Amino acid sequence: MSITDEGEYGIKQIMFLESVWGEGFLSPGGVEEIDLVVKGLDLKGKTILDIGCGCGGAAFHLLRQHGAAHVTGVDVEPLVIERASALAVQYGLTSETTFNTVEPGPLPFADHSMDMIFSKDAFLHIPDKEALMQDCARVLKPGGIIAASDWMRIDDNPPSAQMRDYIKSEGLDMHMCSLERYRNALAQAGFEDIHLLDRNAWYHRKAIDEVAELKGPLRQTFVNLIGENDADHVTEIWEKMVGVLALGEHRPGHFRARLGK
Ligand SMILES: C[S@@+](CC[C@H](N)C(=O)[O-])C[C@H]1O[C@@H](n2cnc3c(N)ncnc32)[C@H](O)[C@@H]1O
Repeated sequence: MSITDEGEYGIKQIMFLESVWGEGFLSPGGVEEIDLVVKGLDLKGKTILDIGCGCGGAAFHLLRQHGAAHVTGVDVEPLVIERASALAVQYGLTSETTFNTVEPGPLPFADHSMDMIFSKDAFLHIPDKEALMQDCARVLKPGGIIAASDWMRIDDNPPSAQMRDYIKSEGLDMHMCSLERYRNALAQAGFEDIHLLDRNAWYHRKAIDEVAELKGPLRQTFVNLIGENDADHVTEIWEKMVGVLALGEHRPGHFRARLGK
């Protein structure tokens, strides 16, 4: 949610989103949603790349609860990397994590260097999904897994006026595509065993509750954190988001696939 801040994810934005979604999280669902993204996968001893890691909430959970060996988190926003690094110190997880700022574009990692790629609600900021999936395939070891959640759209037609209005109000670079586009991009990049999961119904219900919290019990906390104007502005954006979730055009979802050997 864009509020008066530095960059797309500045200090106010980070403080606000963490207070809605939990320490270390800039996307909804907390650890339960991460558990669903990786459900049934064996992460023990794996090296994982988290693309668009934000403040590191997912990285810490994959290490602590899923037995991953090391998580490298990359993000384009220096302030979220600073926050992730500070949390790693706080949690005593500095040896098991590496957090780095990267430029948008090809991933700065060697071919076949990671066991797994994870991402939570960050790919929406990256326009070329086909190039992204090709690059993920390059960085993964043969047989490696990609497991991601993202904010998507019902299809790849031009967005409706209501959706355009919502995206404009967010003030973020948002390039949401359909789950089907991911299916095709994954297949073209050499991934197999592709599974897609639509999460619209879940997030629609949750976002309604979030609006009720923004307007009710948590209102004063948010006003104290970001000021009255920004609290009003963010509540308005959240209501628009509920509108496009209800319309069925905004469709959070998960996908996972295995790179062919
Ligand atoms: C909605 S936040 C999610 C952060 C984190 N994955 C989480 O779930 O808390 C999206 C993140 O993607 C990052 N991002 C945007 N464009 C990116 C890019 N090209 N490469 C890597 N990260 C990017 C943003 O800076 C932001 O931290």
